[in-house]
Amino acid sequence: MPSSFIVKSDSFQYDLSMYKHLYSRFLEAHPQELHFACHSHHYWPDVTRDAHLEYWDDACKYVDNKWNYIFSKKIPQAQKLIAEILQLSKPEQLVFAPNTHEFVFRLLSSLDWTQKVRILTTDSEFYSFDRQINRLSEFKNFEVVKVPTLPISTFHERFEKEMSSNSWNLIFISHVFFNSGLTCDVERLALKAPTEALFVIDGYHAFMAVPTNLSPLEDRVFYLAGSYKYAQGGEGGCFLYVPPKTRHRPFHTGWFAELSHLSAVGTEVGYPIDALQYAGSTMDFSAIYRLIATLEKFKAEKLDIIQIHNFVKKNQELFIKELEKINHPLLNQQTLMRGNSARHGHFLTFALPSGESTQKMVAALAQNHVHTDSRGNRLRFGFGLYHNDEDIRRVVSIISKVSI
Ligand SMILES: Cc1ncc(COP(=O)(O)O)c(C=O)c1O
Repeated sequence: MPSSFIVKSDSFQYDLSMYKHLYSRFLEAHPQELHFACHSHHYWPDVTRDAHLEYWDDACKYVDNKWNYIFSKKIPQAQKLIAEILQLSKPEQLVFAPNTHEFVFRLLSSLDWTQKVRILTTDSEFYSFDRQINRLSEFKNFEVVKVPTLPISTFHERFEKEMSSNSWNLIFISHVFFNSGLTCDVERLALKAPTEALFVIDGYHAFMAVPTNLSPLEDRVFYLAGSYKYAQGGEGGCFLYVPPKTRHRPFHTGWFAELSHLSAVGTEVGYPIDALQYAGSTMDFSAIYRLIATLEKFKAEKLDIIQIHNFVKKNQELFIKELEKINHPLLNQQTLMRGNSARHGHFLTFALPSGESTQKMVAALAQNHVHTDSRGNRLRFGFGLYHNDEDIRRVVSIISKVSI
């Protein structure tokens, strides 16, 4: 890192603008905007534009050989980069799809629906999963238990109690909860989970945000995430890690599952024994190009996940410190949702009195060019590499003037 980029002053000593150059296109397109919704729609680094064009060029260059090229070169490259970040020893156990819902449904479809299906989860799972299991629980044989994530201080004990109190076919849990930014200790829970249950981690709000080491869990857990948020490759690039010994026959299956060597496990439809047993079918791989470009760029900049996380944490601390000074009636220490601050997700959430006041607050901030978002009565501020401390002070100054 060039030393001229580092400004040493107080505890918030980073010259955060050192990373802004990575996002010059998006930043230049919105010069007035203070974008604090990067937990929802992250700005794309400039390198993703070239990657997108590279996809076009490869389609033109390889035409009928395109899939061959993508599966032999680009997919292994993406697998390797993701495996490095998650500390997984078998990159080939990663499979791709355009969204996580596809994986969620494929995982559900590997359970035996002719029997009772028992699912343990939380009340804070993203809609891709939550809506799907709400619909499925209309069937008599589906039984779903959702453990409330709040209060977070007792969450792990309560979840463990449920895990051991019954038998489960599927345990599904987010690493970082989308409606609070609070984090759970997935390693602790996965290691205590009954071995007969599939254990699935939704890592969407953790991947490329919260440092994650899956190596102790790599024989045990399924992990899904995507590139739309902190991995910054845009929509369309989701992945699932499949533990190596998995031999499933999801009934929601696509012909890409036949791309690798088939070993006929059951009767009529054969499944591969590698991660492709969870494959779907034709997709637009430009997202994978963009994901690779971003991850390679971070590597070239020597910007690893710990640095990114520490950088965001400093921004969040500065935001909280500045906020304390203004005594805002809605955004303050009492409404801020906090748990393990060292591992908090990359957005801060405030629980407001009602959904209506939250909507009004989001709109009032947007009128002042501050972009945030909300879920119910929870207002979320996302932090990323394209903020510097001046941005943080500006946003708090705007908050101090906003009344609803
Ligand atoms: C926790 C979580 N999981 C998954 C997703 C994405 O779901 P899908 O890929 O099905 O759109 C999101 C999107 O915001 C999310 O917050």
